[in-house]
Amino acid sequence: MDQDMWLAIIIIIIIIIIIIIIIIIIAQGMFGQHSQGHGGIIGVSCAAPGMGLDDPYIFSPDAEYVDLLLNPERYTGYKGPDAWKIWNSIYEENCFKPQNVKRPLASGRGVCVEKRAFYRLISGLHASINIHLSARYLLQDTWSEKRWGPNVTEFQQRFDEVLTRGEGPRRLKNLYFLYLIELRALSKVLPFFERPGFQLYTGNESQDAEMKHLLLEILHLAKSFPLHFDENSFFAGNKKEAAKLKEEFRLHFKNISKIMDCVGCFKCRLWGKLQTQGLGTALKILFSENLIEKIPESGPSYGFQLTRQEIVALFNAFGRVSTSVKELENFRNILKNMQ
Ligand SMILES: *[C@@H]1O[C@H](CO)[C@@H](O)[C@H](O)[C@H]1NC(C)=O
Ligand SMILES: *[C@@H]1O[C@H](CO)[C@@H](O)[C@H](O)[C@H]1NC(C)=O
Ligand SMILES: *[C@@H]1O[C@H](CO)[C@@H](O)[C@H](O)[C@H]1NC(C)=O
Repeated sequence: MDQDMWLAIIIIIIIIIIIIIIIIIIAQGMFGQHSQGHGGIIGVSCAAPGMGLDDPYIFSPDAEYVDLLLNPERYTGYKGPDAWKIWNSIYEENCFKPQNVKRPLASGRGVCVEKRAFYRLISGLHASINIHLSARYLLQDTWSEKRWGPNVTEFQQRFDEVLTRGEGPRRLKNLYFLYLIELRALSKVLPFFERPGFQLYTGNESQDAEMKHLLLEILHLAKSFPLHFDENSFFAGNKKEAAKLKEEFRLHFKNISKIMDCVGCFKCRLWGKLQTQGLGTALKILFSENLIEKIPESGPSYGFQLTRQEIVALFNAFGRVSTSVKELENFRNILKNMQ
């Protein structure tokens, strides 16, 4: 009797040890993913420090390198209540939505213009991401073949004037607004990249110079594009107010970035964060216009700096938004031919 009991206890202990070992192995398998590739860095831990207008979060211990070329943005099937909750908290918790704008825009003081602009930029970002997801929809998913392409039904559900009760066209307008803001930032940041001291490091010296040449070409092209909105009403104002606003924007971006850290799907989080940081960098440029103009031809530019991560995010975000504008045109043509 006594011996039987001891035997049973020993067997139970052995079983518990085996279960613990299995759990440890599974946990390591789950957390060891996504460490492939090279390219942009993105902080992905839910508790990682947020990025913002000036945050040097590149030093985050939780940051991972991700090859953006191997991880294109496309339809992932991540939607439903979870995705809705994420965007809802981005709009609501950051309390920059129009209902909170107390004074009407026409009051002329311009105090609220920037906050409204902030809301429109986030809405434009949301629209841009949704256009991508509609344009790179997973049309066919069999074990032998995966095919991505435009899904007009998905696009209409998000942007059609009737189906969205008038919201769709407003979202698209905000997309164009976002595009113009980022384009403006590119044209303003030209002096920073034009300095002879600014160098790109591609890992191949002869390509470094070539890439810089191409980069400057793009920026000059952006500068040649005529002005399409009155930016004197933004980002200017008196110095003290502008500094306060800049700090406010920085905190909001930090919060949005933190919310994005909690997005469940890896690719959604990657592109969401990249585009948020790109927009944050664009705003940092527009807020620093005076500093950029004062950058000396040679020597370091102490007043204004961009980290490697900010530069990667800025150009990739602009790439995304301009692709959205192009894809929008494609959807327009498809819809025209369907009528
Ligand atoms: C950021 O989030 C925190 C906690 O959720 C909140 O207390 C704070 O007011 C938010 N800040 C801004 C600027 O929205
Ligand atoms: C397009 O999207 C809709 C939902 O928005 C879905 O019901 C439909 O199956 C999709 N079409 C294809 C070909 O996958
Ligand atoms: C560097 O780039 C040049 C021009 O693209 C190319 O011809 C050359 O092979 C590259 N060198 C190395 C080491 O990759």
